[in-house]
Amino acid sequence: MKKMRLDKLLSGSGFGSRKEVKSMIKSGRIRIGGDIMRDPGFIVDTDTAEVYVDGERISYRQYYYLMMNKPAGVISATFDPDSKTVLDLVPPAYSHVSLFPVGRLDKDTEGLLLMTNDGRLAHRLLSPKRHVPKTYYARIEGMVGQEDIDAFKAGIELEPGFTTLPAHLEILGCNEQTGTSEVSVIIYEGKYHQIKRMFKAVGKRVLYLKRLSMGGLKLDESLPPGAVRELSQDELDILLKE
Ligand code: URA
Repeated sequence: MKKMRLDKLLSGSGFGSRKEVKSMIKSGRIRIGGDIMRDPGFIVDTDTAEVYVDGERISYRQYYYLMMNKPAGVISATFDPDSKTVLDLVPPAYSHVSLFPVGRLDKDTEGLLLMTNDGRLAHRLLSPKRHVPKTYYARIEGMVGQEDIDAFKAGIELEPGFTTLPAHLEILGCNEQTGTSEVSVIIYEGKYHQIKRMFKAVGKRVLYLKRLSMGGLKLDESLPPGAVRELSQDELDILLKE
């Protein structure tokens, strides 16, 4: 059971600003059950109340969960004075929802980015105590070898006093001609530029980076870069169990 002011429920459901929905309410366009309700501060039980706007029953959703295939060139933030942000790519149908990205990908990193307004889930997924695994595909300048796999497994010292948790590095292919390697990396934390700094520490450079999964949630590869879709119930259940 969740109790909420009628004006908050309506503006949170996309019917306009608080000011706009107050005037809708006062003009008699809202019914609760069979009765017109003109009090914006009326407390509604969002689980049971039957709320109608202009005769149409509305359903209230508290939380939204979107998967984005983040393209390169946009910032994982809700606002930036200079650059386009991931929020700019979210369809206007969600503009009434205070979405934020769960964790950050660098401006040039692509791939899975979860966006939600569920602060508790975000907190759980990002908590350093939980060690939620994140899988990346990367293209590396240089020949990645067994010594790098071993170094990642031992944990890499990124700065004095901080060594990463053991990370899983797998070589997908090495190209002698171009001098590049393709790898998959699983890390269990989310330090700033973590994968780039781990490769730098072993004398190599990340040329391209894409996140493929976060916990049990996998990037839907049919989503083109920049596209967004809501999580399915199964995907959400996986995350809620993390
Ligand atoms: N590690 C990085 O270096 N960059 C990212 O965007 C994510 C992980």
